[in-house]
Amino acid sequence: MGIDYLRISLTDRCNLNCIYCTPLEKNGYLPHEDLLRHEEIARAAAAFVRAGIKKIRLTGGEPLLKKGVVELVRMIKAIPGLEELVLTTNGIYLGELAAPLREAGLDRVNISLDTLKKETFKKITGSDGLEKVRDGIMKSLKAGFTGVKLNVVILKGINDGEVADFAKLSVEHLLDVRFIEFFPANKRSAKLSEALFTTAETRGKIERALGPMARQPSARGDGPASVYKLVGAKGKIGFISGRSDYFCGSCNRIRMDCIGKVYPCLFSPATHNLRALLRGGADDYALFDYIKNIFLVKSSYKKDSPSSGHIEMSSIGG
Ligand code: GTP
Ligand code: 5AD
Repeated sequence: MGIDYLRISLTDRCNLNCIYCTPLEKNGYLPHEDLLRHEEIARAAAAFVRAGIKKIRLTGGEPLLKKGVVELVRMIKAIPGLEELVLTTNGIYLGELAAPLREAGLDRVNISLDTLKKETFKKITGSDGLEKVRDGIMKSLKAGFTGVKLNVVILKGINDGEVADFAKLSVEHLLDVRFIEFFPANKRSAKLSEALFTTAETRGKIERALGPMARQPSARGDGPASVYKLVGAKGKIGFISGRSDYFCGSCNRIRMDCIGKVYPCLFSPATHNLRALLRGGADDYALFDYIKNIFLVKSSYKKDSPSSGHIEMSSIGG
């Protein structure tokens, strides 16, 4: 499978403290001088595009905490050959930023939201920000974004009672709702391993409450999601089954974190460091060559390869 999708984590900072994501043993954040600057991110992104990347997703931490993110979007969007620039956010700052981001050329947003209840939001994220996220979702639709997706992680005993409520959002709004299987990746989430609520369980709940779903033909951009639709719905329902499924064979992604480390696979160690080249005076050809070599090592890593294990979603952005 060709590699044409790059996920760039812009910052290790997050303004939420989610029970399945934020590391327990977080000792402060990375020093500012270690983070790639806008020009460095844009230059790395352009080199990735020359090497074959067509879609870039900005993640975090929380990407909207990156200072000057709107200007950064404008810079990346201007890269010739890049077909799609998208972003995954927790939505807290989307109310303020949706319109400027759209104007700067961002093509799409995915918004992470695991509950529609104020108390449960507090329990999962440690924050009172539910209303801000709701406002962010509405403002993103108002700003003209289409193909907006809600990413929902269901945890048994915490929010599994809300599966049908989320599915219903896809009936009433032009939104796709995607259920992501919880993946206990770090030490904190490992303590929640009993909370796994599988795709099969989620699907069962939806169909019992709202009737059968029709499988949608797979489209470019579905990634690892399998996509369905409820009868008469405006939006779709997707399932990303990172636990129960295996999609390494069709993986087209590569990841770079906020200090320029590159991960050929979600489960691989960081094998390369682009920052050293960017700050060491490498020319564009050297960057291109280095990236092409990263692509070559991707196939050595798989979900269950011996090097897999500890992943910090909060620093590589899922
Ligand atoms: P689209 O481009 O809209 O399809 O989004 P996306 O699924 O590529 O990106 P998003 O950030 O919305 O991803 C949602 C979540 O899916 C991630 O945060 C992960 O939890 C999970 N996910 C994404 N990519 C992978 C992957 O390669 N493997 C596994 N196991 N899970 C993934
Ligand atoms: N399991 C599944 N999804 C996770 N995410 C973060 N940590 C995990 C985990 N342990 C998801 C968030 C968000 C995306 C960027 O990553 O819910 O939608």
